[in-house]
Amino acid sequence: MNSLALGRCNAVIGLQWGDEGKGKYVDLLASEHDAVVRFNGGANAGHSVVVGGERFSLHLIPSGILTKGRLAVIGNGVVVDPDTLIGEVDGLAARGVDVSGLVVSDRAHVVMPYHKSEDSLREELLKSQRQVAEEGGLVEIGTTRRGIGPAYADKVHRTTAVRACDLLRPAQLRERLELVCWAKSATLSPLGEPDQPPSARFDPSELAARAAGWGARLGPMIQDTAYLLHGLLADGKRVLFEGANGTLLDVDHGTYPFVTSSSTGVGGIASGSGVPPSALNSVVGVMKSYSTRVGGGPMPTELHDDRAQYIRERGREYGTTTGRPRRVGWLDLVGVRYACMINGVSTLAVTLLDVLAGMDGLEVCTHYEFEGGRTDRFIPDAADLARARPVYERLPGFSADITGVRRLADLPREARRYLDFVQEAVGVRAGLVSVGPGREQTIVV
Ligand code: GDP
Ligand code: IMO
Ligand code: MG
Repeated sequence: MNSLALGRCNAVIGLQWGDEGKGKYVDLLASEHDAVVRFNGGANAGHSVVVGGERFSLHLIPSGILTKGRLAVIGNGVVVDPDTLIGEVDGLAARGVDVSGLVVSDRAHVVMPYHKSEDSLREELLKSQRQVAEEGGLVEIGTTRRGIGPAYADKVHRTTAVRACDLLRPAQLRERLELVCWAKSATLSPLGEPDQPPSARFDPSELAARAAGWGARLGPMIQDTAYLLHGLLADGKRVLFEGANGTLLDVDHGTYPFVTSSSTGVGGIASGSGVPPSALNSVVGVMKSYSTRVGGGPMPTELHDDRAQYIRERGREYGTTTGRPRRVGWLDLVGVRYACMINGVSTLAVTLLDVLAGMDGLEVCTHYEFEGGRTDRFIPDAADLARARPVYERLPGFSADITGVRRLADLPREARRYLDFVQEAVGVRAGLVSVGPGREQTIVV
């Protein structure tokens, strides 16, 4: 795919609040790479890929697994829920997918059952304070409750963390879990469930037995993936990094605190895989033709009327991981431009253009009104962004069904104009345009 100027080492990164269609493009590009690598996030991700009319939803396993003969690498920056991973492996195998290329970093952190309890507990507690929170104040994030935040917190706390390599040392892990369960019970008891003795919640023997099972099952896949990837690159092989979540959910650059707990942009690749920034040749930035967001936090272009419902239904905008209806709005070019800057995006890959067919007119946000002035800068602070008002440019809509179009020239004039406007406003050219979920429903520009 020359239009993307791919080199040996490339990345697919989401430019909005997740669910941009990264899975589809990773699947499409997997055939041109030898390995596909996840470097951030965990089972909060939900990447839907449609191959030959069959839909696959991947949460932890890189989407490259669907292309025969590719290595699918879960890097050290990922937090791994072993039950979810094993379920995913078994589910794919049952559908005839060859999962022998799956590799897990020995340094990936393990999402333990207490992480998921803590995630839910914290969300419920914050939710109960909604009525007393000031306007724009902190309420619950609306996490996927997959234990992501607590697992990354333990990684940074260090002493209470469990890594994939620990699963291979069951006797030592058993001892560690005594300490960990004691510490978890002591710190989580004040958070809720006072009528339940903490010891009943986190039983080290039970956890150690489960962990031993995970170790036995996942052991053959666990290895040092930094050396693996450097070995591949040294042999002239090609590596594709699969971003999870989206840039506006990045823990540093997103709409904090309504973000996830990892570095979702290219910044996460080096720390989450051990491959240095200098190795990266090309960054494909995936953006959908409108905006969606799941969970809490500001979204300046959000729509609340039947236009939102029209887009939601046509785009199947319901969470792959939680089934929640996604919040829907017009394309926010301020956010996309910012995400391109943060990631050094080389090429845009647009998705879901087909969904916009049939709308009366199309609005795109080019600036914000903020504190009495007009700005073209994104505002990553959630409280400030909540006060920004979108400034729209109105473009003509198109009515034709474009799901069968395979050449740019065959798109309706208004759809081409929309794409031209986006590229001009963002300052990056589009190399791919997607007009349906299928692999073949792609226009190579
Ligand atoms: P990801 O998390 O970025 O991989 O995105 P998701 O898989 O969560 O959400 C994208 C959804 O859009 C999936 O259901 C895809 O199958 C679907 N999809 C991707 N590209 C297109 C497209 O161009 N048109 C339509 N109609 N659906 C698409
Ligand atoms: P993919 O890879 C959309 C959102 C959650 C919540 C916030 C924090 O499919 O694009 P977390 O569970 O991570 O602590 O939740 O981040 N979120 C996503 N939204 N797509 C995702 O992943 C997401 N991963 C996390 O909804 O608002
Ligand atoms: Mg998704």
